[in-house]
Amino acid sequence: MRWIYRKDFSIFTWKIRDMRIDIITCLPELFDGPLNQSIVKRSQQKGFVELYVHDLRDYSTGKHKTVDDYAYGGGAGMVLMIEPIDRCISQLKSKITYDDVIFLSPDGVVLNQGLCNELSLEQNIILLCGHYKGVDERVREHLITREISIGSYVLSGGELAAMVLADAIIRLIPGVLNDETSALTDSFQDGLLAPPVYTRPSEYKGWKVPEILQSGHEQKIEEWRHEQSVKRTKERRSDLLK
Ligand code: ADE
Repeated sequence: MRWIYRKDFSIFTWKIRDMRIDIITCLPELFDGPLNQSIVKRSQQKGFVELYVHDLRDYSTGKHKTVDDYAYGGGAGMVLMIEPIDRCISQLKSKITYDDVIFLSPDGVVLNQGLCNELSLEQNIILLCGHYKGVDERVREHLITREISIGSYVLSGGELAAMVLADAIIRLIPGVLNDETSALTDSFQDGLLAPPVYTRPSEYKGWKVPEILQSGHEQKIEEWRHEQSVKRTKERRSDLLK
């Protein structure tokens, strides 16, 4: 149990313990790589987050572990059935309480940094990945609490979206990043894009690092960075300034 500071909420808040994310999918193998690399891997090793991937087929009562079926009324494409999804979610919920059951779909609320911040304060969440043509509407009506899209385009399933969401949330858990302030200075964290950064050499092929950054004058550097952030946001994402 520890205090954490969130710039976006401008308050101190506290967590009872670190986070648990359960992912429900019919393609569990897809998660092997991304969740076992870099920051996400380290955050699990250090105990900041527990990640579990559940194969929807394990919850099918069908002879061939079927999880999809034809749509009532006809139409192209198979639809994910409610039964295995309900069985899986019910089993998880019988052990612990979840703050949210999130369905990844192109019809959901579009993900942004504010929503990631909010979700990173939650204790336990379930991410349900849609696939094929869709999911039985009763899943939406009765089993999920939020629907999230990672952008206005259609992926072949919710798996990549769940990975994006899990990554964006996990890196915000305090302690996950070595330098905790680095998550707070990310693009979007204060509604602005991040300023440009440079490293050695100070001159390459005649392309120079701005002198101010080499001046050692902390306050002037901060002012320059803020100006650059505003300039970049105006040029590239003026919608963020509204
Ligand atoms: N599944 C398919 N497309 C998606 C999207 N854009 N966001 C979230 N889940 C999806």
